[in-house]
Amino acid sequence: MELQGRTAIVTGGNSGIGAAIVAELGARGANVVIDYVTGAPAADALEAQVEGTGAQAITVEADVSKVADLQRLVDSALQRFGRLDVMVNNAGIETRTSVLDTTEDQYDRVLAVNLKSAFFGTQLAAKAMIASGAGGVVINVSSVHEDWPMPGNTPYCLSKGGMRMLTRTAAQELGPHRIRVVGVGPGAIATPINAATLANPDELRILDAAIPLGRMARPEEVAHVVAFLAGDGADYVTGSTFFVDGGLMHSSPGL
Ligand code: BGC
Repeated sequence: MELQGRTAIVTGGNSGIGAAIVAELGARGANVVIDYVTGAPAADALEAQVEGTGAQAITVEADVSKVADLQRLVDSALQRFGRLDVMVNNAGIETRTSVLDTTEDQYDRVLAVNLKSAFFGTQLAAKAMIASGAGGVVINVSSVHEDWPMPGNTPYCLSKGGMRMLTRTAAQELGPHRIRVVGVGPGAIATPINAATLANPDELRILDAAIPLGRMARPEEVAHVVAFLAGDGADYVTGSTFFVDGGLMHSSPGL
């Protein structure tokens, strides 16, 4: 198995895209640290699922908007598995608010959960990887909205635009340490973040029509790309974002 003996941390690992990434990395042999803030039963179920495939997993309750909690995640990986090879900065939230109606609180929360967590997750993982001398890979799960404006979701777009430059810049700085930094930019994926759209048939029809492949994706379809980028098959890949969006970002609906 391709990732046998490697250790991965997945932030926001017990739901949506994060849960699919945990399952996929585990299925490819990696030991996984599953981060979560709420939903302990889902985290426990995933831990059992990974262990059923022969790899090992632990769950850690940690709020990744806090640097001390991120440090605890890295320490847990080192204590339990003795190494850290793959850091997946996946945790993300959105408020669906605009420039005009976003509150200070909403702004701070989105930027902290999405961008601050990825920045310090990258920093702390890189320090552990440098100390081990074995290198590693950081995967930042961003969005098509790292590049593509989404009116009415401004703080989210800001945070993802920041992740884009985090990936670009950290790849330059960490390359000499044999640490790759890669972005994965999902489009519209059937996860809890899109619950309102999924529950609204009209909205769903408009969204599906805007996607050249004609449908939202399953979280597993993003996880496959993340797992490929985590493995040796991608060992010359760093500093770029790979979009998993069914063509959404470059579509021309109605033209
Ligand atoms: C957002 C979703 C949105 C999708 C496509 C994602 O990053 O979280 O709310 O539906 O992009 O626009």
